[in-house]
Amino acid sequence: MSDDMIFHVKPALAASAHVNASRAGLMGNHALNDPEPFWLEQARRLDWERAPQLAGGGGFGGDTRVSWFADGTLNASVNCLDRHLADRAAETALIWQGEDEDASRRVSFRELHEDVCRLANVLKSLGIERGDRVATYLPMVVEGVVAMLACARIGAVHVVMFAGLAAPGIAGRLRDSGAVLLITADEGRRGGKRLPLKAAADMALAELEADGAGQVRSVLVVAVTGSAVPMRPGRDRDYAALVRSADRACAPEVMAAEDPLLILYTSGSTGAPKGVLHTTAGYLLWASLTQAIVFDHRPGDVFWCTADLGWVTGHSYVVYGPLANGGTTLLFEGTPSWPSPGRWWREIDRHQVSGFYTAPTAIRSLMRDDPSALDATSRQSLRVLGSVGEPINPEAWLWYYGRVGGGRCPVVDTWWQTETGGIMIAPLPGAVAQKPGSATRPLPGVCPVLVGGDGQPLEGEAEGHLCLERSWPGQARTIWGDHDRYVQTYFSTYPGYYFSGDGARRDADGYYWITGRVDDVINVSGHRIGSAEVEAAFGSHDAVAESAVVGIPHDIKGQSLAAFVILKAGAAGRPGLEAELARHVGQELGRYAAPDLVVLTDDLPKTRSGKIMRRILRKIATGEHDELGDVSTLADPTVVGALIEKLRR
Ligand code: WT7
Repeated sequence: MSDDMIFHVKPALAASAHVNASRAGLMGNHALNDPEPFWLEQARRLDWERAPQLAGGGGFGGDTRVSWFADGTLNASVNCLDRHLADRAAETALIWQGEDEDASRRVSFRELHEDVCRLANVLKSLGIERGDRVATYLPMVVEGVVAMLACARIGAVHVVMFAGLAAPGIAGRLRDSGAVLLITADEGRRGGKRLPLKAAADMALAELEADGAGQVRSVLVVAVTGSAVPMRPGRDRDYAALVRSADRACAPEVMAAEDPLLILYTSGSTGAPKGVLHTTAGYLLWASLTQAIVFDHRPGDVFWCTADLGWVTGHSYVVYGPLANGGTTLLFEGTPSWPSPGRWWREIDRHQVSGFYTAPTAIRSLMRDDPSALDATSRQSLRVLGSVGEPINPEAWLWYYGRVGGGRCPVVDTWWQTETGGIMIAPLPGAVAQKPGSATRPLPGVCPVLVGGDGQPLEGEAEGHLCLERSWPGQARTIWGDHDRYVQTYFSTYPGYYFSGDGARRDADGYYWITGRVDDVINVSGHRIGSAEVEAAFGSHDAVAESAVVGIPHDIKGQSLAAFVILKAGAAGRPGLEAELARHVGQELGRYAAPDLVVLTDDLPKTRSGKIMRRILRKIATGEHDELGDVSTLADPTVVGALIEKLRR
């Protein structure tokens, strides 16, 4: 081993974990040398209506149509619910913890099954059929999970939208997915405030109707806060009233392995967010397998993934992974430090959480809280701590390990993406020693490759663009409605490889260190934001002629957005315009995408062919004026000096 800081596998875990080092080695070899039997064996962890005889997968040369277990049939909701009814119907499937510390609810597998069946019947009565898209725009409430599983039960494709999205983002996703039914709430709660969800949904629906795209026939409204909201007769219905009178039994649709399960929108380096499509069996297998082995899942475990249901982490590790594994999943409505610091740590004690999974941005912000809030809790129930969404800096890793886990729990830094469906690179806690800051080694069956500047794979210690060489079951199958874009985005940069968009280094021990995005995707607090999307949002403001948005390092958020904006001729810069423009972006995309820095400028650094040099803008925004590099290729190099001057003032 190299002399990086290293945390060896705890002997007790090596002895007891599902996957110890020798088993990990065997699995890896089996997956590599005998993929068909290996994957068919893994597939046995699901309950099938008809078990598959074919695994599938393969390489990425030529055909980019991927299929897994294609001759198998199953239902995802059966795998998360019905299969547990025989021996653990009364056990808790889901704990809902409200933002109010006194509000919590335990839902057994039997109850969740019943809730799901009732809503499934409601959806059917409203005409929803296999393959129809059903969208949700909900806060972190039980109905959010029920909605996903009810769709899965009847073969509808769910399109879950983050409750922090603003109306234009909702409208875009509804339009692109062709959703015919929307499930939303009167309001959400956040940090003691209320989020007007129905109002935002109504704005989005009005926007669609104005465009003649009025495909959303029904809107179900969950009463979360109970506040009165306008209901349009014939379209809007009270969720509770409908499910109350619905039948509590609903036979599951038998789905083909490759039938779509979900569409989830994520940002790319260009254009509008794309609808990543995951299919039934491969996705579910990947969520379940990875949750079991990376978090060393045990019966009775309470698993808490803090991600919102609106992101892939919420899909795979709040809903599908833990429930398929028969664990208890914790759904938390609140925020980490509200109403007072230590909130998360108190919830860990209250609900005896054993697996905890969160993002570095949250860890960094919690490190700054008064330590007495942490010290006042025991956290003895914790066994494995996970990190996801961005590189974790060693300082945050060490605090998480030492202070949160008391040095008892391995920290699993998990690299993956919306497109991978589940974890790809991470230390199996009973098998792989951890190095703070490294996602460590690929899971069995995952084949990462680093590609160099010449497009050739690199061997041994190296740094390059992170690609994957073979398909895995959780692989996104396409971009909804645009397979060409899928091919273009993931398979055209390096023919024969899936290109992740990330850079990475491999050390002498074969450990991967993710260095961040190498494209124009910016990662703010673990949320993926495309610079092109933010630029389009600026462009929709009357005063803006052109803009360029870059990510710059931020102590807590990882990255924050800096925007350089050229106003239209005649649009005078007035005091407060910068803040107004930032607010405008927040209203277009959601507050999480509002830039921290807006600089009005007369010009942008461009190449002679008109391409904005974002590298230079990043250096200007961070004040690294000595490292601007070669500016001689700029059409007008004086722009740089003018911008530096501007930021000095
Ligand atoms: C991008 C994917 C993965 C679910 C949540 C985000 C970055 C993710 C790590 C990690 C370094 C990471 C990458 C990736 N990322 N995990 N452990 N170390 N970077 O999903 O929104 O699809 O974003 O998040 O840049 O490409 P996503």
